[in-house]
Amino acid sequence: MSEPTIIPDPAEPDPLAPTSVDAAVRAALAAAAEATTLEDLKAARLAHQGDRSRLALANRSIGNLPATAKAEAGKRVGAARALVAAAYAARQAELEQERDARILVDEAVDVTLPSGRRPLGRRHPVMLMSDRIADLFVGMGWEIAEGPEVEAEWFNFDALNFDVDHPARQMQDTFYVDPPGGGLVLRTHTSPVQARTLLDRGVPVYVACIGRVYRTDELDATHMPAFHQVEGLAVDSGITMAHLKGTLDRLATELFGDGITTRLRPSYFPFTEPSAEMDLRCFVCRGEDPQCRACKGIGWIEWGGCGMVNRNVLTACGVDADRYTGFAFGMGIDRALMFRTGVSDMRDMIEGDVRFDDQFGMEI
Ligand code: PHE
Repeated sequence: MSEPTIIPDPAEPDPLAPTSVDAAVRAALAAAAEATTLEDLKAARLAHQGDRSRLALANRSIGNLPATAKAEAGKRVGAARALVAAAYAARQAELEQERDARILVDEAVDVTLPSGRRPLGRRHPVMLMSDRIADLFVGMGWEIAEGPEVEAEWFNFDALNFDVDHPARQMQDTFYVDPPGGGLVLRTHTSPVQARTLLDRGVPVYVACIGRVYRTDELDATHMPAFHQVEGLAVDSGITMAHLKGTLDRLATELFGDGITTRLRPSYFPFTEPSAEMDLRCFVCRGEDPQCRACKGIGWIEWGGCGMVNRNVLTACGVDADRYTGFAFGMGIDRALMFRTGVSDMRDMIEGDVRFDDQFGMEI
């Protein structure tokens, strides 16, 4: 509804004439009755009660009348305006009520409708496996140790008997932290926690460390630049390789089932002597299926490294290597998860798609 422009009508020159006032009132009331929304009513009010409406014009013309005619005209216009104002107020109340009633209906909530359930998230299977491993060691009376992921080069390499020119120190394997030469790396294994633990806690000591480690590997189906390891370290008087083997067999049984043991193959690590690669009995075919997909018919699955703690490491960490001996081991948790559950592409583990985690269920 547009605002009316008051054009003086030559046919009706006197806005104060009773017929003009009546006509203005009728038009105003009709407009109010026709308004079906509060916006309509607002526009009608402006047109019929506003400064430029016919009634306002009539009101203003009273001033021009001779004194004798003022009272009578004033009464007539006043009554007309009051009538219009009352009608608009009443219509306003009606329309507001209608609007409120409509809102109540539109916004009504049916509390009896079934709710849209939010799907539950899951713990990541790497975390589930980490917790199971930690529980096993705590159950055997070991402690859990932690170390920083941004590690001093000294702990990551020097304390562990790595030569200055050991290939693992090269830029191709290790993430060095700026500034160059600042002596900080992203730890390439959890073994620096061995040195930290020996220095912090002294001996005898039995600790497991589970954590994230970093290597400059390209991300592909079998490599990740960040992955998880579990490190074990036991140093006491009289520790032998038999204790190492027994502990590894216990861990293998716990994670892969009764009768699944490990075997050791001679190897080399700077921080253990003797050193060994540790293989796990294939828990799918137990060495009996030349076609087995889990072990590729070999009967064993490579799992990690281990050995007797090198006496140079014990000495660097202030332990009397003539009185104490110890063993250490380290293996990949992501890798264990891969062959344990048949995940064929490691990238699935880091994409954060809850449908991946869903398959492993929930363990608390
Ligand atoms: N730190 C070694 C690695 O990451 C594994 C290892 C741990 C070997 C402890 C021996 C003893 O490959």
